[in-house]
Parts: sequence; structure tokens; C-alpha cells
Amino acid sequence: MVTRVGINGFGTIGKRVADAVAAQSDMEVVGVTKTGPSFGCDLAVRKGYPLYCTFDDLSKIAAFSESGYQCNGGLSDLLSSCDIIIDCSPGKVGAENLAKYKAAGVKSIFQGGEKHALTGMSYTSSANHFENLGVDCTRVVSCNTTGLSRTLVPLQEHCLELGGIEVNCVMIRRAADPGDSSKGPINAIKPVLKVPSHHGPDLMTVSPEIAITSLAVAVPTTIMHVHAITVNLPSGHGLDTEKVIAMWNSTARVLIMNGADTRITTTAEVMELARDIGRTWGDLHEIFVWEDGVSLQSDTLYYFQAIHQESDVIPENVDAIRALMGSEADWRTSVDRTDAAIAEFNGLS
Ligand SMILES: NC(=O)c1ccc[n+]([C@@H]2O[C@H](COP(=O)([O-])OP(=O)(O)OC[C@H]3O[C@@H](n4cnc5c(N)ncnc54)[C@H](OP(=O)(O)O)[C@@H]3O)[C@@H](O)[C@H]2O)c1
Repeated sequence: MVTRVGINGFGTIGKRVADAVAAQSDMEVVGVTKTGPSFGCDLAVRKGYPLYCTFDDLSKIAAFSESGYQCNGGLSDLLSSCDIIIDCSPGKVGAENLAKYKAAGVKSIFQGGEKHALTGMSYTSSANHFENLGVDCTRVVSCNTTGLSRTLVPLQEHCLELGGIEVNCVMIRRAADPGDSSKGPINAIKPVLKVPSHHGPDLMTVSPEIAITSLAVAVPTTIMHVHAITVNLPSGHGLDTEKVIAMWNSTARVLIMNGADTRITTTAEVMELARDIGRTWGDLHEIFVWEDGVSLQSDTLYYFQAIHQESDVIPENVDAIRALMGSEADWRTSVDRTDAAIAEFNGLS
């Protein structure tokens, strides 16, 4: 069965989710929404994604055709033709949208700009795919939380029977996305004065047994986040630095490279590497870990990782669709399928 997927909001995340869904043989994009005519509509037209208006208001729908775009109707029309809707609207408009999805009887997936309380379920592929099987609504956690989940869940699974891990992390956040001219700072470092920041504890919405706190600062860069992470391991863990590196080397969607050997020493080179890989928009779905920045001293593990905020959540949305539709119960199988299809779509297989 092919799952009919609608995408509400065709911005930074929505346009990427649309491509990732279009790449899958068990899914099709039945439509994407924009609030009104703008340059982003051209992308939808070029990709062949049917265009809908975010709203049902007839004058807003008519504005598309007045600007030369074929608009297939409002959100209600899109909802009537899909099995599941991926809400990629700006954060905090979710409650209003969720009511519309529920009224239409359509399953929904929200993004990390919404709170866990909206959906009562959150998702990352490695932490809780199984718990999300068949549910009506979930939230793919933020780019930062997704990054934490990728490297911390395998460590937690290794240490579970010994009492689990305790984590402190400092999130060094990009100030804005590259295409966003409305945010800052542009010449300052801005600490998040809500302590702990929401990022670490958000991981507990998908992996509640990981004890974690976080601090965050925003810095004037647009390309990536960096996390500086300290993990206290329970005694008897049996790991050393090499074993931790080997663990992440065999973890899906984690890319671990030696900074000194590769001369990838900053996020600038990580993003250049991503552009070399050749995915659309120069995306890096993997979490990047500097091998030579990993150090396990006694029971304390230190490491740095970099997050491409615009894209690490994209393949997770595809896996989440399979979870909610109940079409694949095994998260590893879904991850392999998702990633292979995206690679083929980008001509990389
Ligand atoms: N950007 C990131 O780095 C990132 C990473 C992970 C998660 N997220 C989360 O993903 C979500 C989307 O973020 P984004 O960065 O993609 O935002 P974005 O680039 O601003 O795109 C938002 C899209 O939603 C549309 N929209 C505006 N109001 C809407 C409404 N009421 N209902 C439906 N759609 C509406 C916009 O339409 P127009 O184009 O017509 O204005 C735009 O296409 C947020 O929850 C965010 O927190 C973002």
C-alpha cells in the first residue's frame, strides 16, 4: 500500500520532508501548502508537488492563481486526499492545526517547534519507533534532541542493566538558518537563561530513562549546532575510547571522522564535506562526531558533535510515517529503507 502524505508548510523543513517522502516507494506526496504566492511555490511546481493554500479562505486561494500558480484548494481539500499530514508549520501554531487534522480524521506528525504536551508522543527512530506504532499523532523532536538521541541511545542501551548514564551537555546553537534574515545575534553570544535549557530534558520525551541536563548559548553562525557532551557511565561499563568510537561507527546516521587526519576541524569543513556528498541543499542527515574529540577517562566520557539543523530530522520524519501507519515495526529496517531511497533519489547509490 502506498501512503498518501500531505505536507502542511513548505519551508526549510517542509521542502526537505517532501523530497524525502517522494523518494520512498511506499509513499507519495499528495500536496504541499503555502500561505500565499512566493518564490517557494516555484519549487513545488518544479518538483511536481500539488500546491494548496494553508487556509480555506477563498480570497487567499484565489491569490495563487492571480500570481500564476495553480492552487488545488485549501488545507481541508488537502486533508481529504491524504492518509497522514506532516505539519512543518512554524512552531507554536500546532494546536490550531491539530484540531483540523483530528476533525478530518487524518494522522499527523509535528516538528520540534511544538511542545511534547501537544501530541503526548514524541519520536526518534532509534529511541521509540516501536512505542509510536499505530498512534494517531506524534512529534519528531527538534534537531538538537535528534542529535542527542543518535549518540546517547546506544550508550544508554549498553549501560542499561548497570543503572544507565547521566549526561550534561552544552548546546552551542546557530543563531538562525541560512535563509532566515529575521533572527540574531549577529555579533554576540547569547546564553539561554532558562536553566537547564529545554534541549537535554526534551530527550527524556523519547528516552525517559536517560538522566540529562543541558545549558545552551546561541552564537553568530547559521550553518550548524555543536554539542559539548559529558556522560557519566556506571561502573563496570566495560568501554574504552576505542570501543565507544566503534559503537558509533556502527550506529545508523552517525558519521565519525578524525579531525586531524581529514582536516575537518570546524563546522565549516563539515558543511563542505556535506556539499561534497551531494545531497540536495548540501544536507547532512548524519550527526557528525570528531573522533579525536572523544575521550573516555575512567567513568566519564567527553565528546563533541555537530548537527546540521536543517536536515537531521528529515529521515526521521519518513520513519515516523511508517511507525504511525504501522507499515514497518522494526526501526532499523525502516532506517535502511529510508536512507537507501534518499540516496537513490539524489543519484548517490
Ligand atoms: N529550521 C530548522 O533548523 C528546524 C530544525 C528542526 C525542526 N524545526 C521545526 O520545524 C518546524 C518548521 O520550521 P521551519 O524552519 O521549516 O520553518 P519555516 O522555514 O519558517 O517554514 C514554515 C512554513 O510553514 C508555513 N506556514 C506559516 N504559517 C502556517 C500555518 N499557520 N499553518 C501551516 N503552515 C504555515 C510557511 O508558509 P510560507 O512559506 O507561505 O510563509 C512556511 O512554508 C518548526 O516546528 C521548527 O521548530 C526547524
